[in-house]
Amino acid sequence: MPSTATSSLSIRSVAIVGAGTIGASWAALFLAHGLDVVVSDPAPDAEPQTRARVQAAWPVLTELGRVVDGASADSLRFEPDLATALAGVDFVQENAPEREDFKIDLFARMDAILPPHVIVASSSSGLIMSRLQSRCRHAGRFVIGHPFNPPHLIPLVEVVGGEQTSADTIDRSIAFYQAMHKFPIRLNKEVPGHIANRLQAALWREAIHLAAENVASVADIDAAVSQGPGLRWALFGPHMTFNLGGGAGGLANFMDHLLGPVQTWWDDLGAPQVTPELQRRLIEGVNAEAGQRSIADLVEKRDAQLTALLKTLGT
Ligand SMILES: NC(=O)c1ccc[n+]([C@@H]2O[C@H](COP(=O)([O-])OP(=O)(O)OC[C@H]3O[C@@H](n4cnc5c(N)ncnc54)[C@H](O)[C@@H]3O)[C@@H](O)[C@H]2O)c1
Repeated sequence: MPSTATSSLSIRSVAIVGAGTIGASWAALFLAHGLDVVVSDPAPDAEPQTRARVQAAWPVLTELGRVVDGASADSLRFEPDLATALAGVDFVQENAPEREDFKIDLFARMDAILPPHVIVASSSSGLIMSRLQSRCRHAGRFVIGHPFNPPHLIPLVEVVGGEQTSADTIDRSIAFYQAMHKFPIRLNKEVPGHIANRLQAALWREAIHLAAENVASVADIDAAVSQGPGLRWALFGPHMTFNLGGGAGGLANFMDHLLGPVQTWWDDLGAPQVTPELQRRLIEGVNAEAGQRSIADLVEKRDAQLTALLKTLGT
């Protein structure tokens, strides 16, 4: 049975439109919470792939205590035809390829099929909702609900509406994600890439600049994050981290003493041009860092350690 929280929101049935990396992970999370989940994806191998991904996510969801009584991975329904899949659902999570023209068309098609009260949340990493909803008649029910990979583990969901999105859609989406044990944040305005991807991009730009300038190897630059501030960032964002860095005087004290030097570092940050030659160096560097570990090995390690971290943090 769905949790009381989702029952009070009247969301019992969810459609996953697009079931690649992100859609399948959302499907696992929603199934674990006891919702009826129907998946739609036109790719010929989408059904077996989705079922395999959901099965792969289930042990971790169980370990985290996310699987409610009676929930089953096998209850997933697969329906390649969009109109059939959307019949009778209460909420849609869209995870189709990240192309604006494609999503504008897909949203218009979903809008024509769904009754006006059904929310459509898009996982889009960087597209602007005001443009995606531009051809919809009931545009108020379209919203960005951007997760982090893998959505069944990482709590963050960035929620932002477009010019036509209703406040009620945003409020109900946030309440729904909270009921799914996610950590939704509300963006007050649209920006390309939302917040978290922009922050990642800012850090990556400087990491590439440092590699391009041969300040250290790719592996050592990565370690400068993972073995250093990255550990604190699992607990606090940059403002709270520096609030603690200022001692009893907090962020005010920190800024009094360190804003000057930090400003000189900001002035010195790079804006690298990522040439084919630089790309090759970065790829060689990360392959050297991976050593004998395959991508599958690293993903398995990431998910196991993320699970342990989430359990420790109680998120
Ligand atoms: N991969 C990430 O790290 C990540 C993180 C957060 C958000 N996102 C966003 O999630 C969305 C999906 O990304 P992904 O990485 O899962 O991509 P993906 O390529 O793994 O999956 C996309 C899926 O959409 C399917 N598809 C194609 N046409 C379709 C249609 N007409 N109707 C329904 N499904 C269709 C494809 O067959 C494929 O299975 C994108 O908007 C992306 O920006 C990705």
